[in-house]
Amino acid sequence: METKTILVDKDVNKEETYSQAVEMLKNGEIVAFPTETVYGLGAVATDTEAVDKIFKAKGRPADNPLIVHVDSKETALKYVSNVTQKAEKCMDAFWPGALTLILKAKPDLFADNVTAGLETVGIRVPSHPVALNLLRQLKMPLAAPSANTSGKPSPTLAEHVYHDMNGKIPLVLDGGATAIGIESTVLDMTCEPPCILRPGNVTKEQLEEVIGVVRLSTDIQGNAPKSPGMKYMHYAPEAPVYLIEEDVRLIEMAIDHVHNEGKKVAVLSHHEFPSADFDFPLSAATLYGSLRKCDMIDVNIILAAVSADKQKDVAILNRLEKAADHKWFS
Ligand code: TXA
Ligand code: MG
Repeated sequence: METKTILVDKDVNKEETYSQAVEMLKNGEIVAFPTETVYGLGAVATDTEAVDKIFKAKGRPADNPLIVHVDSKETALKYVSNVTQKAEKCMDAFWPGALTLILKAKPDLFADNVTAGLETVGIRVPSHPVALNLLRQLKMPLAAPSANTSGKPSPTLAEHVYHDMNGKIPLVLDGGATAIGIESTVLDMTCEPPCILRPGNVTKEQLEEVIGVVRLSTDIQGNAPKSPGMKYMHYAPEAPVYLIEEDVRLIEMAIDHVHNEGKKVAVLSHHEFPSADFDFPLSAATLYGSLRKCDMIDVNIILAAVSADKQKDVAILNRLEKAADHKWFS
């Protein structure tokens, strides 16, 4: 299959841009599109066969449910039930935006593979104008996980999507770099207090200002992860990633140590490390791009600098812990 890319970056409102994508989606094809977090790989959420193509193209385990994207709160309410006051407050405060709410799905509306057989669904209204225009023209809910091969960093550029999906999907809408760069916060509204299953750009503090106490799923000891996707290793480049405390002297020592073993090292950090073979800036917007670049350079080891303060940059730390499989450099 040939993969076509349509550039929408400077022509966000052009009608023809969307008509092709809408036609393909209605015909059961899958299409990649930008959101404000990362690129998504979309299929009409009521079409089992189309949704199955997403799992195949990504190599995604079937027990990992997809997020459904809709154009408004009003549309969302047609598909979910048992919506609490707190859930509505979250919709009003954070939609459109990078917050996915886990709510009870109305029965028999979504294809079974969207929810991986669960009674709940993850749903959000994206704020990216291309995603919103697409949803408004499609007039159907769009199931869309991140548009990367399973286990690889999520795509923040159309090029990343093309790299992973070339030959597997017919169309990528290129809206340029995504603004946030990491996936949405996933908040489970089916429990009390509501629970963050995946940290993201919308923080625990911001949520608590709107709905009061919220738990972080890592606070719950001994429980299996409730968000099925969180048990899989993610975002991993080829070379091993090690976490290291953001301490300039410590990192310099680590670089020397790796060099003494005759190996090459890349450092991801807020600081610059000219003594490393490669150094990349570290922020939500640059994280996945940097991890992908690590696969294009000749490097044996990647050091990811994290703050000793675990309350800082929770979402970035969460992604780096996965990339490193929780290994610390010592
Ligand atoms: O920012 C984002 O959320 C991006 C863009 C494209 O919207 N999407 C995204 O989707 O990151 P995905 O499929 O890569 O991640 C979805 C996460 C997974 O960890 C999945 O397990 C969880 O949401 N999830 C989905 N439905 C769920 C449900 N019913 N209950 C618990 N977790 C759910
Ligand atoms: Mg993903």
